[in-house]
Amino acid sequence: MSKILYISSEAFPLVKTGGLGDVAGSLPVALLKNSQDVRLVIPAYKAVLDKIGRSKVRAEITYYNLTVKIIESRLPGSHVIIWLVDCPVLFDHPGGPYTDAQGDPWPDNAHRFALFCRAAVDMALNKLGLGWQPDIVHCNDWQTGLVPALLSLEPERPVTVFTIHNLAYQGLFDAQTFHDLQLPTELWHLDGLEFYGQLSFIKGGLAFADKITTVSPTYALEILQPAFGYGLDGLLTHRRTHLSGILNGIDEKHWNPGTDKHLRQPYNRRSLQKKGPNKLALQEELSLPIDTSIPMIGMVSRLVEQKGLELILPSLDTLMGLPLQLVILGTGVKAYEQQLRQVAARHEQQLKLIIGYDEALAHRIEAASDIYLMPSIFEPCGLNQLYSLCYGTLPIVTSVGGLADTVVDASDENIQQGSANGFILTDKTSKALINTVQRALRLYQQPDIWRQLQITAMSGNYSWQASAEHYIALYTEALSEQKVDH
Ligand code: ADP
Ligand code: GLC
Repeated sequence: MSKILYISSEAFPLVKTGGLGDVAGSLPVALLKNSQDVRLVIPAYKAVLDKIGRSKVRAEITYYNLTVKIIESRLPGSHVIIWLVDCPVLFDHPGGPYTDAQGDPWPDNAHRFALFCRAAVDMALNKLGLGWQPDIVHCNDWQTGLVPALLSLEPERPVTVFTIHNLAYQGLFDAQTFHDLQLPTELWHLDGLEFYGQLSFIKGGLAFADKITTVSPTYALEILQPAFGYGLDGLLTHRRTHLSGILNGIDEKHWNPGTDKHLRQPYNRRSLQKKGPNKLALQEELSLPIDTSIPMIGMVSRLVEQKGLELILPSLDTLMGLPLQLVILGTGVKAYEQQLRQVAARHEQQLKLIIGYDEALAHRIEAASDIYLMPSIFEPCGLNQLYSLCYGTLPIVTSVGGLADTVVDASDENIQQGSANGFILTDKTSKALINTVQRALRLYQQPDIWRQLQITAMSGNYSWQASAEHYIALYTEALSEQKVDH
């Protein structure tokens, strides 16, 4: 059994903006089930404090002349102990965890997450009187990147693991910020936190963690290339013997069509006929023509370039010439929202656009749709295609990252072999997207084959168990390497 300090800037159900929240809300639970001793650390955003149950203040300390409290509670619905880093001046902002209502980053983000990292480092070194010394510190994405960097300066320290969920977000700030944050000067060099004259939080993880992971085997290879590496492919290639890809799982307590409390009609692969009423219910809810025979395509997404908006937007008018309904739920780049609004206004009977963030509606869309649209430009893992597979909603995807690792194209050969569970674009173009939608619609007209694809999709194993075992094996390996080093 290892003691694992798991550090994240979000964790479902307390705070979530995307897949990182899902992972941090479920991997620690899976590790605990596998007899590991886990503590989860997240910032005490106002929304988090409003949601936690019983809690107590375990420590009080000062960083950057600000008083910080460490509040202990439980991750709701689990036995995982959470430690919340409470500093209202920094975390009690009235918008999202990283951005304001306009989508602009909070101007004090460097300060916020540097303070968060400093608290996590002191937990890692058991300096806060919490009576618990971790063996492993597991960090996630740039917001936690300073932790491996600061710990690297300690002679006695736990093993560090850094997971990349998305290399496109790096936590870059100007050089002055490095000084303002009073970071140790020995960390400022090209093999350290400096990135072309700027301070890079994510480099703290990539350069200093004992092990680097990312969330799918294919993305672990892709990021070694300039096209996916966002300028960090050189460093990652240098560290490639320490880099591996472990596919995310899904939280079957929340994402299971047989027990999903958000659905009008739960169903499973043996009662697929019960999926239809979910489509009728959503058509009614969204004032779409009510007809279960019309194929419905769903999409629930951050509306950002990563998710293929540059492919989708130019295809929409053509797609609207096909007999289908399209439901899109998302928020993100204002220009994308605006363009989608314009197309939706032209095709009211076919395209429903809901700009916003709505967890319950996300579940209803997954259950109601026949097809799920996810033509990402890059996708470290992707959880929505996994939810779709689980809900018998066949994903249309590009062949990148975790999408390539989880979706098997409905080619004649794969259908015959019984391995097909979705549709893969031949390339990242609008033309390929339109062709693939047409190909999917043709198969939709062959109910026996379609049902076979759905059953294959729903029979896959997407649980956290296998991934949790991989992480535990990685922790064990890192611990044994640490012993050799000493
Ligand atoms: P990413 O983390 O890149 O956004 P993932 O597919 O890994 O992509 O995970 C996205 C998660 O966020 C899923 O759980 C998805 O349902 C959720 N999500 C994204 N946008 C919305 C939204 N507008 N409303 C509700 N849930 C959303
Ligand atoms: C990131 C990625 C997504 C991944 C998620 C959880 O947000 O964009 O592909 O599934 O993290 O690891």
